[in-house]
Amino acid sequence: TAMAQPAQESREQWNHQAGFILAAIGSAVGLGNIWRFPGVAYSSGSGAFLIPYLIALLTAGIPILFLDYAIGHRFRAAPPLAFRRMAKWAEPLGWFQTGLLFVIGIYYAAVIAWAMSYFVFSFDLRWGDDPATFFVSEYLQVGDPVVSTTPVWGVLIPMALVWILMLVVLLLGVANGIGKLNMIFIPLLVVIFTALVIRALFLPGALDGLDAFFTPDWAALADPNVWIAAYAQIFFSLSIAFGIMITYASYQRRKANMTSSGLVVAFANSSFELLAGIGVFATLGFMAHQANTQVSELEGLTGPILSFVTFPKVIAEMPGGNIFGMLFFASLVLAGVTSLISIMQGVSASVQEKFSIDRIKAGLIVSILMGAVSLFLFSTTSGLIALDTVDMWSNNIGIVLSAIVMSILTIWIMRRGRELRIHLNAVSTFKVGPWWTVLVGILGPVVLGFMLVQRVITL
Ligand code: PHE
Repeated sequence: TAMAQPAQESREQWNHQAGFILAAIGSAVGLGNIWRFPGVAYSSGSGAFLIPYLIALLTAGIPILFLDYAIGHRFRAAPPLAFRRMAKWAEPLGWFQTGLLFVIGIYYAAVIAWAMSYFVFSFDLRWGDDPATFFVSEYLQVGDPVVSTTPVWGVLIPMALVWILMLVVLLLGVANGIGKLNMIFIPLLVVIFTALVIRALFLPGALDGLDAFFTPDWAALADPNVWIAAYAQIFFSLSIAFGIMITYASYQRRKANMTSSGLVVAFANSSFELLAGIGVFATLGFMAHQANTQVSELEGLTGPILSFVTFPKVIAEMPGGNIFGMLFFASLVLAGVTSLISIMQGVSASVQEKFSIDRIKAGLIVSILMGAVSLFLFSTTSGLIALDTVDMWSNNIGIVLSAIVMSILTIWIMRRGRELRIHLNAVSTFKVGPWWTVLVGILGPVVLGFMLVQRVITL
């Protein structure tokens, strides 16, 4: 009885398998790949980080990606209803995941809006010689028209644009909205970002940057925090345990080769991440070269500071910096938008299914609500300050908790491991053996539990 009723096959569907794969890649490849991975890898052992990173990918990332796929595809719903169909009492886990999405979505939209403004600022290097002051004391002051000198391109207009875009795509639906958006944005992102990386590699000092990025610091492998960083990066980067992949997989056709598409998505995401590491560090190598110093002496190598302070600084010193800036900020926007839409679809579908309303209503309610909260919380400098706290709670603690609870519930309490594995294997070419249940049910919770304890202790 817990199975989805065949009667409700009016459910939306992806146009084709490629639509699903591109959308899943779009969700995975995001700000996390561009502004998080390079700095995290560098400060967690550089080249040596690739080892915990790969282990985290193979032992937890891909297995939990498969779990998300299996749940979404078998129970054909966004997280709250999908978990409810597995066991009535499990619905709150779905809402927890939806809640995480809500939180990530409201700041993600702000960052995309910043990147849109900075795309325009790249034309005339508007940030001047002191990008830090410009960003914090000028640009983010735009909430206050008296202080701000850049009201027109201030944060409010781009934020509104982001939310309008989200609304339009949501209303167009899974196949015609999200599917088409990714079909255009992902190839475009790959072209633009590749051009950026190639340009970066020809900058003087680029090779020193790569050296800094790749030279392994083996001692880092003895530090548990490095391992935690690797798992956290994999989870955030693959968008797993957030209910997104559950939602996206629920629109897959009944006969879909799921494990193979999962491997494609995971491989594409990690490749993009590595490419971003190369591009960012080649650029930082140039920055060190200009300042006559070492990459290790530089500061502000991740997150908003990397993108909106450090990069603007380098861009201003570079021949053809305007174009470089436009490529960089366009990449952030494209990567960000394709992730944000997955977040919005997750929240919107949860609401839609809970209240049995149509897609249009759910899309309107969710975008207006999230848009309002996002404008209210993130349109000023307080947003920049809130970002760290929000990021830590949702991306480090929330997501790990969600993954542990989801694994233990499905494998041990509901005992659905075998059923889900058979479901995954039914149409897939890459067969999942019993090892999958061991990874998801035992190794995953143990490693993640250890991580969570460590994180909480070091709060
Ligand atoms: N995977 C995205 C990134 O790397 C972030 C994300 C997390 C997107 C959760 C959707 C849901 O930036």
